[in-house]
Amino acid sequence: MTSPAQPSTAPAPAEAVAAAATSMRTFSGIQPSGVAHLGNDLGAIRNYVRLQDEYEAIYCIVDYHALTSTHDPEVLRARTRDMAASLLALGLDPERCTLFVQSHRPEHTELAWLLATVTPVSWLERTPTYKEKRESQPDDINHGLLTYPVLQAADIVIYKASLVPVGRDQAAHLELSREIVRAFNNRYGQTFPEPQAVFTDAPTVLGTDGVRKMSKSLGNTIDILAEPELIRRQVMSMVTDTQRILRTDPGRPEVCNVCQLHRFFGLDYLEIQDGERTARTGCVDTKKLLADRIIRHYAPARERYLELQAHPEQVAGILEEGADGLRPVAEATLAEVREKMGLR
Ligand code: AMP
Ligand code: TRP
Repeated sequence: MTSPAQPSTAPAPAEAVAAAATSMRTFSGIQPSGVAHLGNDLGAIRNYVRLQDEYEAIYCIVDYHALTSTHDPEVLRARTRDMAASLLALGLDPERCTLFVQSHRPEHTELAWLLATVTPVSWLERTPTYKEKRESQPDDINHGLLTYPVLQAADIVIYKASLVPVGRDQAAHLELSREIVRAFNNRYGQTFPEPQAVFTDAPTVLGTDGVRKMSKSLGNTIDILAEPELIRRQVMSMVTDTQRILRTDPGRPEVCNVCQLHRFFGLDYLEIQDGERTARTGCVDTKKLLADRIIRHYAPARERYLELQAHPEQVAGILEEGADGLRPVAEATLAEVREKMGLR
């Protein structure tokens, strides 16, 4: 007769720790760009919040990535703090997800080096964001810009996450992450799941100019956590249907950014669009209503944001705890990868 199995006191093998619950993990990274704007929330953060109830959720403020464009240490620190407070104010709950800062888990950069060795340079050179940065910061085409997507892949796969909530502008990066995973798994054996992008129903939010993606660097944001007067000014400055000159001209809600944004702030958006189409309402009325609704919708989040900003030590504690909790998983994945690559 065999004796009953004794509980093992030996530590679980690295592979087992890294693999635990991985199929149910979601991960996303966000730049420390300061206070979150409407595009961040509608395009990505809403999904971060939703997915924290459905999966084991990990969210990261990517300060290593930000160094490719932000070179002032104090600015970087302040923006990291503002983004952390924004995410918590908008609904990330440290009881239901892990929130941390990328550089607090330095294993990401070691894994990025290891993944770099399976990544052809040609894949990186054809990345749309790399090409854009070559145009937008021609005097600072640093190596980090080229290798940016490899670090992004490392961020995701170090936790073996399979779902990645992002806006549409990240689709090419996610595709590259999948290619890097395939290249690694082909060379060293099945190790990482291929991560899938998850989009909201507003995968690209246009800025106040009505043509380009809403983005801090373009100065066309609606700053949802700012004081109401600023939000109102930003909304009132929005470009609407440029062919509607006179108040009596019929509008085209399908090309009007203001009308499109109403979809997310009230069930009556079809009526609002109809008002524009028939010239029953003017652009100014529609903008005023949108400003009121955005201000009302985000008022509780703004209150939480101000409270968090008044207690930076609370935010710092959450971020520290987040990074500490991830250590065993990050270390276990690295141990497994080193072993497979012949480093141990
Ligand atoms: P970033 O600040 O570039 O790190 O963006 C953070 C997240 O918000 C990413 O998932 C982006 O894809 C998403 N995002 C940023 N701007 C927009 C936008 N204008 N529309 C939709 N999603 C966006
Ligand atoms: N590149 C992303 C952005 O600019 C940020 C990012 C870094 C990210 N690592 C990630 C997004 C991992 C998703 C998963 O928004």
